Amino acid sequence: MSQYISNIKSPKVSIAPMVDRTDRHFRYFTRLLTKKSLLYTEMITAQAIIHGDRNMLLDFDVFERPLALQIAGCDAKNIGKAVKIAEGWDYDEINLNVGCPSDRVSGNEMGASLMAYPELVRDMVKVMKENTDKPITVKHRIGIDGNGVLPDNFGRKLLDKYEDLTKFVDIVEEAKVDRFTVHARIAILAGLSPKENREIPPIRYADVYKLKNDFPHLNIEINGGIKTTKEIKEHLNYVDGVMIGRAAYDTPFILSEVDKFFDDGEINNISRREVIEGLIQYLSNLDDNTREYNVLKHAMGLFYGVRGSKNWRQLITPPWDKEKNAVDVLREALEILPQDVLNMRVQE
Ligand SMILES: Cc1cc2nc3c(=O)[nH]c(=O)nc-3n(C[C@H](O)[C@H](O)[C@H](O)COP(=O)(O)O)c2cc1C
Repeated sequence: MSQYISNIKSPKVSIAPMVDRTDRHFRYFTRLLTKKSLLYTEMITAQAIIHGDRNMLLDFDVFERPLALQIAGCDAKNIGKAVKIAEGWDYDEINLNVGCPSDRVSGNEMGASLMAYPELVRDMVKVMKENTDKPITVKHRIGIDGNGVLPDNFGRKLLDKYEDLTKFVDIVEEAKVDRFTVHARIAILAGLSPKENREIPPIRYADVYKLKNDFPHLNIEINGGIKTTKEIKEHLNYVDGVMIGRAAYDTPFILSEVDKFFDDGEINNISRREVIEGLIQYLSNLDDNTREYNVLKHAMGLFYGVRGSKNWRQLITPPWDKEKNAVDVLREALEILPQDVLNMRVQE
């Protein structure tokens, strides 16, 4: 179990929940690179936790900790039930999704559309807290454009001003939220895909900085478009923590440096060779039912920006020679990729 769990209320860096990406295998891979960052599951609906295959949805390896479970829902009773069930798994934190713009989610008044209902979010957090002693955090946007999605009797649907954000936080904080993670762009609920909603609405970091300034007693984490350790460092001058999503997936080696932002400043300083060796060990212990590519696909970006990148991606992409399994493929990579790149560390 990680020694950093006691600091979990204020992680300097966390790795964003991402559906189809932050599954168990990706989290294991990520944990090889960073020992201190807070990791997140993918978003899981309260309904799925209540009615679905709980072991499949909630099981994790203690190596992944500290680990937060992200839940989506729109009903305090169900959210409470889901949190109570998740107690059996001992996550380090439970997070409520108030940021997802997908029709499937916001159309059911889950995810980002909940920003229009701060009292409901507050009440959901209260019920979550009644069902666990773990930190309860909220991940949301700086605002929403609810035209075409929010019901006609709602009144204002464009909640995109800084004042709309403070109104939301003001009400939700009554439930004693342990951290607000703020994706620094609004969500446009109709007409844009989730992907477009991560790219088209302009980034407004200043709103998140101002939020921390106006609510200094709250733990505020910033998210959206942050790509490098230099940028993380800069944001930490203004807010308590930084959440990174796509950059952690596309350029994972940067994670070998991010532990420096925590307490003692020590970094993990792992080499790519050691990461691959860690994956070999992981694959050797997996049950036979796992499709091995489901593990390797998450490591596609390991050589991003350095020599051997194309070769690495080709090597780990199936089809492999019939007699080879993923461990063989990784062993081959250790032999044929540039040795200096395999051995390189952030700090020599
Ligand atoms: C493929 C993908 C899936 C995502 N799934 C979720 C999710 O399950 N829950 C959530 O709160 N946000 C989800 N997001 C949004 C990210 O958590 C994050 O807020 C967003 O990507 C902005 O951060 P970034 O620019 O560092 O990637 C997802 C993003 C991506 C790219």
